[in-house]
Amino acid sequence: MTEPLNRRDFLLRTATVAGVSLLALQPTLAQPAAPRITVYKDPQCGCCANWNDAMRKVGFVIDVRDTTDLQSVKASLGVPDALASCHTGVAGGYLFEGHVPPDLVQKVLRERPAIVGLFVPGMPAGSPGMEMANPERYDIVALGRDQRRTVYATRMGKSQA
Ligand code: CU
Ligand code: CU
Repeated sequence: MTEPLNRRDFLLRTATVAGVSLLALQPTLAQPAAPRITVYKDPQCGCCANWNDAMRKVGFVIDVRDTTDLQSVKASLGVPDALASCHTGVAGGYLFEGHVPPDLVQKVLRERPAIVGLFVPGMPAGSPGMEMANPERYDIVALGRDQRRTVYATRMGKSQA
């Protein structure tokens, strides 16, 4: 009666091999690729570099595109003048203009709403990368595909990063 044993042994071995290969796959499954964003900015812009740092802190890999002709870049990407800021980020088909809080960039990339992107016009004091004394409350504006603007979120600025 060795045959049933052999068969059982074979099944156990197969199960072990399958278990090992599943374990080997796990690290790949557990570590999604780092999110990427392309950022167009002026090479002299200090607050843009600060915003990039804030984005890196939450795991973004940034493809920095320095340009001295941001106006043309913004025009070709479709940034309305009234919503423009110092730098323009592009990720996942969305625009992220200016000092948008990194967690809201993550939220949009996760939830994929039907919008053009998020915009923080001007450079509000205390927004990420613009931390300073006397921070202000500021709006993060969502631009619809129909060009309609809505307040996506309102944040209180911070005096320190
Ligand atoms: Cu700025
Ligand atoms: Cu900037």
